Amino acid sequence: MNSAEWLAYYRQNRSDRLPIAWDVPVQITPALRASVLRSLARFQLGESSAGTSLRRAARTTGDADFMAAIELFIAEEQEHARLLGRVLARFAVPPLHHHWSDWLFRRCRHRLGFSGEITVLLMAEIVALKYYSVVRTGTADGALRGVCDQMLHDEKFHVRFHCEYLHRWLGRRSPVVQPLASWVFTVLFAGATTVVAWDHRSAFLALGSSADEFLNDSWQNFQAAQTAILTGRPFVWSRTLGRAEAGPAWVAPRSEFQQAWALARQSARWLWTLSFQPLVLAGPARH
Ligand SMILES: [Fe+2]
Ligand SMILES: [Fe+2]
Repeated sequence: MNSAEWLAYYRQNRSDRLPIAWDVPVQITPALRASVLRSLARFQLGESSAGTSLRRAARTTGDADFMAAIELFIAEEQEHARLLGRVLARFAVPPLHHHWSDWLFRRCRHRLGFSGEITVLLMAEIVALKYYSVVRTGTADGALRGVCDQMLHDEKFHVRFHCEYLHRWLGRRSPVVQPLASWVFTVLFAGATTVVAWDHRSAFLALGSSADEFLNDSWQNFQAAQTAILTGRPFVWSRTLGRAEAGPAWVAPRSEFQQAWALARQSARWLWTLSFQPLVLAGPARH
């Protein structure tokens, strides 16, 4: 979509919000109360941003429709912070004002220029897709589920919005910069998603998921986003599946040496695994 179409989308989305059942009785188990609310408070802090530096950086694009779309994007994120704030109040949990992960996230965002800022934001959006899916599935509270539904609807379009911008940005760069930028993005994502998986591991367990599942599905979502950035195909994510819809993944062209190396590594991995299997299965002598 071009900037005018994104602006139209954000305007429509602003006036077409899902109803949230704030009046239903609070439902939360002691296990969820102990770990998930603390975790949600960190995400609530992450969603809260005045958007000052993003707004300032967006002006450098000189695209009025894009700047207006960014304005509405910031407003949607602030709405997420407001909704999550109301969820915390519903469970009588005070909001956080500082957390090291939020400090690090903001430091990274504010020093990288507009495309860098969009890149860091995109990582947070991809992480949010899986995180809010797990919360949506693992909780019985009607209001919290409604908030997750609304945020998931918004975030999947945020990912597409950022991917399309980065596709245009990469398209103006030299063929040397393109794979390099993509590699840096992948490394940053590996760091960010691993930190989130570890930091919120007890919440994932309480919600019936795990840090492993979070990491695995987030990587699949990342792969779809990277494909969208490199090819210009739209990012499509399904709430029903809880992950990006399977599509033809972008596969880097590989030389014969690279193909042979990949096969050798695969065989070596199987050799390593199966070498120990007889010892483990045999175990202590059986009678
Ligand atoms: Fe958000
Ligand atoms: Fe978002």
